[in-house]
Amino acid sequence: MSHKVLFQVTGSIAAFKAAHVISQLVKNGHEVQTVATPSALEFIGPATFEGLTGKSILTNSFENGQMMGHIEWARWADIVILCPATAKSINSLAAGTAEGLVGDIFLANNFLRPYLIVPAMNAQMYHHPATQRSLQQLQSWGCHIMETGAGILACGEVGDGRMAEPQEVLKKIDEILIASTDKPKILITAGGTCEPIDGVRNITNFSTGETGRFLAEYLKKSFDVFYVKSETAALPVGVKNVYTFKSSDQLEQTIKCLVSEFYFDSVIQAAAVSDFKLKSINGLKPDENSKLNSDEKVTLELSHRPKIIDQIKNASLNQNIKVIGFKLTQSENKDHKQEQIFKLSMNPNIDFVVHNEINTTRGLQHRSEIYKRDQVILKTESKVQLAQNIERLIQGNL
Ligand SMILES: Cc1cc2nc3c(=O)[nH]c(=O)nc-3n(C[C@H](O)[C@H](O)[C@H](O)COP(=O)(O)O)c2cc1C
Repeated sequence: MSHKVLFQVTGSIAAFKAAHVISQLVKNGHEVQTVATPSALEFIGPATFEGLTGKSILTNSFENGQMMGHIEWARWADIVILCPATAKSINSLAAGTAEGLVGDIFLANNFLRPYLIVPAMNAQMYHHPATQRSLQQLQSWGCHIMETGAGILACGEVGDGRMAEPQEVLKKIDEILIASTDKPKILITAGGTCEPIDGVRNITNFSTGETGRFLAEYLKKSFDVFYVKSETAALPVGVKNVYTFKSSDQLEQTIKCLVSEFYFDSVIQAAAVSDFKLKSINGLKPDENSKLNSDEKVTLELSHRPKIIDQIKNASLNQNIKVIGFKLTQSENKDHKQEQIFKLSMNPNIDFVVHNEINTTRGLQHRSEIYKRDQVILKTESKVQLAQNIERLIQGNL
């Protein structure tokens, strides 16, 4: 399968190895766009890259006709590669202050696409605490970091820091592309929103995010899961694409950004979103940078916020995206309960609604009914059953 590869080269003596990698990527049918730092061009000329890829190399953020290049290229790519990555580029990326197109693309990408770093440097530079800390930082943000080899370095020293061999880099690129593109993508939200009152207080709910976490862990075997969690919700094991939200506005922004960037088969909105936004406090606009006086009388005015779930289909790249909502009820009045469920399940912006009652979800027990419009199409007793049924719903097997 052909992919779009944004290949960035920095100023290392190992730049010639990058040419081998690029050459093989092109032979394997990938579309490769190269970017070079000014230092990289001291080691290898633009003619080599242009000859290998059939495209002019990009070197400058301010090139005529390329002013928005950093944003466009970050979006164009299926994978962004920094190879070889110098100590300087690694340290400045980790600080968020890398210069030029490489730095701009890194920030604009913001981990929406996989980012592979292939370090190459002298052993002392590699083991320097600044470089080690930066590599850890970049890895914790989700970058893929290639191991360096040990051996005789270009400087004559013996040690770590030697760039991985082209075949190893190609293997890693394949692994990343397969992991990120082989399976259909789904987005799962989990946890409760937090509407700030001031710098230290907020309005939130009791959602733990446990259902979302369970679904993410179960569904990752069939889908490429993007997980959008509240700050306090648990992390699913083995899910790489994780985004965090605090307020309902942040959650809305994250979902819209992701569904407009990526082709998702489904969004499972398991997050408990506040129905209300704080409109005013004592008649004034809420201010997150202040703290209310504990002795003062406080009047909070809340207003209804538009439902995020209503906006997903409209914002989505995939116009046939399946939107799955959750409805938790706590009502003795049967008619009122049914009315609440139907309000959601008859909504044309939602395909399926998982309904459950407070007190019927505990641990792995998860009694629920799945609605399609006004019909209950499935009943589940446990979280595993729920996950299995959601999997079948998304795959269109029900
Ligand atoms: C001959 C030579 C070889 C170099 N090789 C490396 C290298 O392998 N790794 C590295 O981190 N820096 C190396 N440097 C230093 C970088 O080129 C220098 O830090 C440069 O500013 C990096 O810029 P860039 O990261 O923007 O491309 C080398 C410098 C010279 C003169």
